[in-house]
Amino acid sequence: MATRNITQYGKDPVLQKICRSQLTFDDRLATILDDMAETMYAADGVGLAAPQIGILRRYCVIDIGEGIVELINPVIALKEGEQTGQEGCLSVPGVYKEVTRPMRVKVRAQNRNGENIVVEGEGLMARALCHEIDHLDGVVFLDRAEK
Ligand code: NI
Repeated sequence: MATRNITQYGKDPVLQKICRSQLTFDDRLATILDDMAETMYAADGVGLAAPQIGILRRYCVIDIGEGIVELINPVIALKEGEQTGQEGCLSVPGVYKEVTRPMRVKVRAQNRNGENIVVEGEGLMARALCHEIDHLDGVVFLDRAEK
């Protein structure tokens, strides 16, 4: 495994592009996912999306302290409730803003083997899921921050 450079908001236009679906589930994908986890842990983050290491593909990793979750081609299937709280991003170091997100979400995705999975999240996990999936559509938390 290896850490990768994290793309920076304002310097790397890749963060504002829409990512394409991941259609192959091979060793290359597994290596990138391993590297993303290592990069996220090294930077003390709770989530990292592929465009944050310069890859315009729809996948991300999340660990809010409950173990690694890998999501390939994630789609939010259900949103419930609302929460407002501080949010940051490894691509926007040192900046924290209030962002309103759903309190609970259900996400349909695939795992690294291409199998369908469902991940449900509440509170911080719901926030992390929404934040990372936003990255796949070129949206950073600043775009959703309270003005
Ligand atoms: Ni982020």
